[in-house]
Amino acid sequence: MLVLLKFVVLLLALGSGQARQPHVVVEDAEPVFEPSKFGSLWPLPQKLKSTQDAFKLTSFRIVDAKDSSAGPSCNILQNAYRRYYEYMFGAGQKQGVFKLRRSGPSDLTGLQVWITSADSECDGYPSVKSDESYELSVIQPFAVLKAPKVWGALHGLETFSQLVYEDEYGAKSVNATIITDFPRFKHRGILLDTSRHFLPIKVILANLETMAMNKFNVFHWHIVDDQSFPYLSRTFPQLSQQGSYHPYTHVYTPADVKMVIEFARLRGIRVVPEFDTPGHTQSWGKGQPDLLTPCYSGPKPSGAFGPVNPILNTTYDFMTQFFKEISTVFPDGYVHLGGDEVDFTCWKSNPDIQRFMDAQGFGQDYSKLESFYIQKLLDIVTTTKKGYMIWQEVFDNGVKLKPDTIIHVWKGNQQQYQSEMANVTSSGYQTLLSTPWYLNRISYGQDWNVFYKADPQDFKGTEKQKALVIGGEACLWGEYVDATNLTPRLWPRASAVGERLWSSKDVTDINDAFNRLSAHRCRMVERGIPAEPLFSSYCQREYKGI
Ligand SMILES: *[C@@H]1O[C@H](CO)[C@@H](O)[C@H](O)[C@H]1NC(C)=O
Ligand SMILES: *[C@@H]1O[C@H](CO)[C@@H](O)[C@H](O)[C@H]1NC(C)=O
Ligand SMILES: *[C@@H]1O[C@H](CO)[C@@H](O)[C@H](O)[C@H]1NC(C)=O
Repeated sequence: MLVLLKFVVLLLALGSGQARQPHVVVEDAEPVFEPSKFGSLWPLPQKLKSTQDAFKLTSFRIVDAKDSSAGPSCNILQNAYRRYYEYMFGAGQKQGVFKLRRSGPSDLTGLQVWITSADSECDGYPSVKSDESYELSVIQPFAVLKAPKVWGALHGLETFSQLVYEDEYGAKSVNATIITDFPRFKHRGILLDTSRHFLPIKVILANLETMAMNKFNVFHWHIVDDQSFPYLSRTFPQLSQQGSYHPYTHVYTPADVKMVIEFARLRGIRVVPEFDTPGHTQSWGKGQPDLLTPCYSGPKPSGAFGPVNPILNTTYDFMTQFFKEISTVFPDGYVHLGGDEVDFTCWKSNPDIQRFMDAQGFGQDYSKLESFYIQKLLDIVTTTKKGYMIWQEVFDNGVKLKPDTIIHVWKGNQQQYQSEMANVTSSGYQTLLSTPWYLNRISYGQDWNVFYKADPQDFKGTEKQKALVIGGEACLWGEYVDATNLTPRLWPRASAVGERLWSSKDVTDINDAFNRLSAHRCRMVERGIPAEPLFSSYCQREYKGI
């Protein structure tokens, strides 16, 4: 491939008869391999001090600190202790080898986890307001992880596990370190699309596990779309019965959804479902007659259907019942309502719609009709006590929004999305960025560094505007993605976004990032995640395949 590319470049250069820059993407300079002074930490903590004093982990245990407000009944922590113990020492691997020796002066015998606030939130769900901060001090005789809430403790456990390495004799070791850490942004999401291709639960769970390794905290579940409707609704079972790729094998049952939500909760991850309307709804129409607009070809219906029909009362009755169910199935405070890419062609063709437009005084402005629909939908969702996120078009079309609405920016080039971020925040809305992070777009060479360099607060605006940026999401749209290629396509490319959203704004050293990320990628591989390589290199323990 590269050889061919060079050949083409040569031809271009020869053909032009003079030396000039060929129109071929030139890769960045090759990275320099050298261990980072921050080891394999990813994302980089906010504040960190470490020394070369190395401790061996001897008879190592992870335990609740005496004064912790979360005790042995806290599932989130007990579960995490087991998980991280396995990651550090290997599944089923006994600590016998180390127990043969008595612990010596340079050993670390445990990690005490201390939840400091009276309410640990152990039985709760994470939210956009969750406190995710923690402090970790790795000093003798035992390390202490302090966090106000369990959410911070989860991140601290991941960080501790990243500090552990094998010394030259293969003994698990850790250097003296003091860390104070918290996320730069509250919302650090990954979007997966389960409509273009059905994703088995196993893949979704593996992704949640990997998200936790990268300190992501929102799973944006783009669960249905034109192509299929795999969500099994208790109220409207016909939707997946008729609209999924297969009504038994390609659906998410209520039990599946519950499992995903609980698995995510145990890792401090929110599950925000997206039910995108009025466009992107072809699959909804199969099980719900009269929901979609009949398109016309001249004076007669053509047999095709367009977006949700905004002029029927039955549409709103349906949406009321449907979103009432959604609000009870998904515990998160927010639901994503889509609202992107509405094609007006079908609405224009339909004479009933035209009469309605005339009666409402909308003229030929179909974005007014879209706004009419969205407005009613937002009122419906408001009655379920949920907040909402929407794609930027809804804001662009001037729909009246609740002040706590989150506008999700996804369109345009850099200049356009920065201008959009400025406009959204100057109107006082909170915003999330995805435009530079469409990870479904692939190309030859290293692209993680492009994702890494994008910063959601880089736009012209006041400090107050910048504060309205609550984070971003890496999106993996599913047209060319299913269980066979999802994980390597997403990781470690999404890790670049993870560090941008977690670490301090001034963490921008690309070469240092490359070296830490290479090590982090090998760690993901060791943990059984087939994360693809960044560049030519090797891991101590290679992926063994399936
Ligand atoms: C940990 O300490 C050892 C020496 O004891 C040193 O070789 C190594 O570079 C240190 N690792 C980090 C990440 O500082
Ligand atoms: C739809 O609802 C509106 C407002 O409740 C009502 O005025 C109208 O008659 C209804 N239309 C039909 C066809 O039932
Ligand atoms: C932002 O608002 C300005 C002024 O109204 C407008 O000119 C510009 O096109 C808007 N930017 C985007 C991306 O819509």
